Amino acid sequence: MKLLVVGGGGREHAIIKKLKENPAVEEIFALPGNGGIAADATPVPIGAKEIGKIVAFAQEQKIDYAVVAPDDPLVLGAVDALNAAGIPCFGPNAAAAEIEGSKVFAKNLMKKYGIPTAAYEVFTDCAEALAYLETAPVPTVIKADGLALGKGVIIAETREDARAAVRSMMEDQIFGASGSRVVIEEFLTGPEVSVLSFTDGETVVPMISSMDHKRALDGDRGLNTGGMGTVAPNPYYTPEVAQACMEKIFLPTIRAMKAEGRPFRGCLYFGLMLTPEGPKVIEYNCRFGDPETQVVLPLLESDLLTVMQAVTNGRLADTEVRFSDRCACCVVMASEGYPGKYETGFELQIPPALKEDVFVAGARLESGKLYTAGGRVLGVVAVADTLEAAISAAYGKVEKISFAHSFYRRDIGRRALLAGKEN
Ligand code: AMP
Ligand code: GLY
Repeated sequence: MKLLVVGGGGREHAIIKKLKENPAVEEIFALPGNGGIAADATPVPIGAKEIGKIVAFAQEQKIDYAVVAPDDPLVLGAVDALNAAGIPCFGPNAAAAEIEGSKVFAKNLMKKYGIPTAAYEVFTDCAEALAYLETAPVPTVIKADGLALGKGVIIAETREDARAAVRSMMEDQIFGASGSRVVIEEFLTGPEVSVLSFTDGETVVPMISSMDHKRALDGDRGLNTGGMGTVAPNPYYTPEVAQACMEKIFLPTIRAMKAEGRPFRGCLYFGLMLTPEGPKVIEYNCRFGDPETQVVLPLLESDLLTVMQAVTNGRLADTEVRFSDRCACCVVMASEGYPGKYETGFELQIPPALKEDVFVAGARLESGKLYTAGGRVLGVVAVADTLEAAISAAYGKVEKISFAHSFYRRDIGRRALLAGKEN
């Protein structure tokens, strides 16, 4: 089989490596991929948002199956376009992807179907939003409606900060048109859990849970990033919590999307907060998380391609999705300065023995050598019998990898190790 994967980060590298385990897979094209992914797939210089070119390439190459990984092409209708050209795909169509593409759509869906989430109000008028803030409790959470590269959320500790956040989104449009509608919502507290799930629109199968570390610096300080590391499973996600999430969140969401005429087929990501009142939805993503995928897929024992095709064909209920009971840790090595300004072009030194444990996010290949080409450069993954062992093995590998001006968090998984020991 010939496969195509749209995207070019660490998440796509993890997906590609897992897909390759199926002996029927002859070739995988990555659009655009990156220099590190080139070890496992053929990079093609077509951007993830160039939907016309993606479809033309898929037809020309007679692609048997396509996986669309990033949010932008999903929201823009890449799956609709590929399907229209007769190419079966993994990923939601544009109507279903709106669950991530519009926070207002997602919040209204949860309200209509009684799915637990933070209380909220929606504003399209800046003056009304500012008036509302006068009586809203602080901290207050302000979210731009549309996709904003994962940056459209501001947590304002004071009323003054909240006003500034609303003005920056609605008047100055710091997130572009995404900010012409904003959601102002209640600040929730509690541990965060990421649960990715497979769903064919009827059946939902949660994958192993994980914990992301979004802030740039140790101790959850510094700016929000795309994610600096992950562990799986997430120890806060106990069997009782899992059951409550299935009954109150996962199944109701799948049924709601179907009832709205937007059945969701693909990977639906539930960003949850375990509040004192029970689990609540912080956000939905219409895709695999990054870097959650880098710890979740190495623990998947079933064949990924088989599961993905079952999702596409509506046969998930009859398909086994089995996870290992081991643990995984991913430490992201980034360019110094990320998520702000950083320099690129530094040579990567990765011992050959570690090649299989590295998912490359931002590197280019030149004369057989890899050079840094992005903020997040790579994710280093280890799997072990305990979380503690996985964390220490991941850091052991990180120490053997180097490039100039690298930085990484030293405390990935520390909070997870404290779960249950806090009192
Ligand atoms: P998002 O970009 O939607 O993933 O949000 C980024 C981060 O903001 C989340 O991972 C949470 O830590 C935080 N966050 C979002 N919404 C809320 C909320 N209602 N209460 C508290 N924290 C929130
Ligand atoms: N790691 C969070 C995300 O993929 O949005």
